[in-house]
Amino acid sequence: MFLKPIKIKNLFLKNNVFIAPLAGYTNLPTRLIFREQDCAICYSEMVSAMGLKFNFEKSAKLIDISKIDKPIGVQLFGSSSEIIFKAFLSISNFNYDLIDINCGCSVKKVLKAKSGAYLLKDPKEIYRIIKILKENTDKPVTLKIRSGWDNDHINFLEVLDSSIKAKADLITFHPRTRSMLFKGKADWSQIKILKKASSIPVIGNGDIFSGTDAVQMMKETGCDGVMLARGLIENPFLIEEVICTFKNEKYNKPDIDKRMNTMLKHCSLIVNYSGERNGLANFRKFASGYVKGLPGASKFRQKINHLVKHKDFIKTIEEYCNYIKKVVVKNDKL
Ligand SMILES: Cc1cc2nc3c(=O)[nH]c(=O)nc-3n(C[C@H](O)[C@H](O)[C@H](O)COP(=O)(O)O)c2cc1C
Repeated sequence: MFLKPIKIKNLFLKNNVFIAPLAGYTNLPTRLIFREQDCAICYSEMVSAMGLKFNFEKSAKLIDISKIDKPIGVQLFGSSSEIIFKAFLSISNFNYDLIDINCGCSVKKVLKAKSGAYLLKDPKEIYRIIKILKENTDKPVTLKIRSGWDNDHINFLEVLDSSIKAKADLITFHPRTRSMLFKGKADWSQIKILKKASSIPVIGNGDIFSGTDAVQMMKETGCDGVMLARGLIENPFLIEEVICTFKNEKYNKPDIDKRMNTMLKHCSLIVNYSGERNGLANFRKFASGYVKGLPGASKFRQKINHLVKHKDFIKTIEEYCNYIKKVVVKNDKL
């Protein structure tokens, strides 16, 4: 049984399956869809501390939280304690449950702004960031890191040490270096090392694409919980699969009705939230995951790539659903 509640300072989470911050993906409607599968916590997309300074409205939209979108972690990225602290003050009246600092993003634009994984070069600055936040909030302060800048500068233990000294409440670890981006394999043995050295909860992240992967990471590393990211884009039902596997229960893949109903609901929520044009553009990113491995999936994808009206999306999804029902006699063969 790997499913267990986690306490992060004064925040009680019902289990240990975390949903990663995913820029361009984990907006409010998508978080609500993911929550239906009973995950422990979702995070906002990363929010730029400088963005909050210069274009508050646009950046703050990423921290749009609804009463039913709880518990929620807000993730900030920025280059220094001063900038991040100002951003933190500017969102003081936002109803979030935890604040997380991004020390792992390896996107060029973010690194150029000396933020994200760039902070790994300076564990003392990470210390200052965590410390000033801890001194000014009762909410948990956490961070998400990679293993280091590159192979010659692997310093996750040093970063852990700085974080613990600053009284961070939890650390999430994606064991790839900045220079690896998403190449190669996440080195889970590094999670084991970090967990052994850590006095705060450790959430393992990287390359979890199935329930079995998640269990394997828990077994191999002893980490306290897992964070799902790309696996969820590939398979929007990964949360329920992981939870089921953690409970050592047999997992039945969602049948076609469940897939299609969830897809229709997800699409509608995004369109209602972002408008037809932007909403459909955003939803297309998820559509592949819902139909992955089904007969005729690539034709379906091609078709919806050309649609610009929500009503046409609905019609196409329903038609595809009926087609699948005809070609697949038993749903458990999906
Ligand atoms: C499209 C995309 C967007 C991401 N956005 C963020 C982000 O906003 N903040 C963050 O800390 N990590 C972000 N990440 C990194 C993931 O949270 C995660 O650490 C990484 O993908 C490794 O996990 P995985 O192998 O399960 O995907 C992003 C990754 C992807 C693919």
